[in-house]
Amino acid sequence: MNPLAVQLNRLTLQNPILVASGTFGYAKEMTAYVDFAKLGGIIPKTVTPQPRPGNPPPRTVETASGLLNSIGLDNDGFDQFVAEKLPYLAGLRTSVIVNIAAKTNDEFRRMATVLNAAEGVAAVELNISCPNVSGGVDFGTNPELAADVVRTVCDAGDLPVIAKLTPNVTSVVPIAQAVADAGADAVSLINTFQGMAINWKKRRPVLGNVLGGLSGPAIKPLALRIVWQVAQAAQIPIIGVGGIQCIDDVMEFIVAGASAIQVGTANFYDPGLANRLVDELTDVVAQEKVESLTDLVGTLQISRAQ
Ligand code: SIN
Repeated sequence: MNPLAVQLNRLTLQNPILVASGTFGYAKEMTAYVDFAKLGGIIPKTVTPQPRPGNPPPRTVETASGLLNSIGLDNDGFDQFVAEKLPYLAGLRTSVIVNIAAKTNDEFRRMATVLNAAEGVAAVELNISCPNVSGGVDFGTNPELAADVVRTVCDAGDLPVIAKLTPNVTSVVPIAQAVADAGADAVSLINTFQGMAINWKKRRPVLGNVLGGLSGPAIKPLALRIVWQVAQAAQIPIIGVGGIQCIDDVMEFIVAGASAIQVGTANFYDPGLANRLVDELTDVVAQEKVESLTDLVGTLQISRAQ
């Protein structure tokens, strides 16, 4: 038995360490730094039906313990991804989870249909949570719209479906439950928090698009809170993401209720981290004297004063 194996409904991963969309390119860029075969899976940069030039620069700025980005889903479009990026990704000895975004259900259906027919795709992650494009978060902030997209993609074939949700709502719980009821296999919690940076001397915002999405260690407590809240209330496996940069961060997400995690911003400054975390997880399983890492999922104990 593989003690790190993870089952997210229809999706099986060899271990729970994934790399987050938008922080790992299309994998080829990371060849020199990462042993892909060791990872639980790779989630390449979001692809959209048509090519997108992205937002005006500057598109990134460092903040205290964080990174604010306003990339705007810059990509060469779905057809080019399938023709030129997917053949390489499909040859890697790890699970490839293709991340897609679109403005209509029909566009989601078209991409999902093609991915279902393609070789080497383990699952689809729906980016219904990008804060940097108009229409980006619309699906993800409304339970009915989010559920419709999930249903549409589920109907397009048998590939497991993951919904990546936005934290920029009053509560993520009803949205997580809605996508669970619609057939999603898992939710990725969470995408970035909308924020801004200002150069007050110039009286100007720093980012070309004014607002951006905050990621990195600064958001870890917020991500943990949302993972825990959703784990308490919704019936769906959770992939935790937000500021993970060491094994203790991983385990905090696991005990809070995540079955798997994504390393995101840390890939930019510590690309070997995801590989190391896999080794360190093996040590945790031994130290905690459990048969499987899944025995530790959601084991947080809360004792409240009476
Ligand atoms: C972006 O391309 O703007 C970032 C992706 C995202 O936040 O979903």
